[in-house]
Amino acid sequence: MTKLIAVIAAIFLASGLATCAIAADTGEAALQFKIFCAGCHGFTGHGDGPNAATLANRPQDFANCAEMKKISDDTMFKAIKGGGASVGLPDTMPPWASGLTDDQIHAIMAYIRGFCKK
Ligand code: HEC
Repeated sequence: MTKLIAVIAAIFLASGLATCAIAADTGEAALQFKIFCAGCHGFTGHGDGPNAATLANRPQDFANCAEMKKISDDTMFKAIKGGGASVGLPDTMPPWASGLTDDQIHAIMAYIRGFCKK
């Protein structure tokens, strides 16, 4: 348990400097993204989280504006709530219906959209 806490603390420290400016104004959603999603999607959304290399399909880059424009809010919501399989993506993207409320999903979506700056 202590080891786990140390690992989590190390991840937070490593990512904290780069992301604290974003995290400061979005609170809970930023924290949830870091805990639940960044392992695969990366702390800055580039799809380069520590677990990404183990996935058959690397998550796409949330900072790529051209690609992100193609994903509607409806599809994004569905992908998060029902998992990748619900929108025809790999099922390595887990469903979050039992872990996050609809409001929390919408807040995380706003945080994800924030990775694209143009
Ligand atoms: C175990 C790794 C993993 C975790 C954890 C994970 N994802 Fe994913 N996610 C994926 C993969 C793989 C895909 C499918 C590839 C892609 O399209 O990016 C995906 C796809 C997505 C998509 C759809 C992108 C598109 O192309 O339409 C969204 C949005 C998303 N994830 C958000 C999240 C959020 C929010 C969380 C945390 C609550 C999360 N993911 C947690 C691996 C993961």
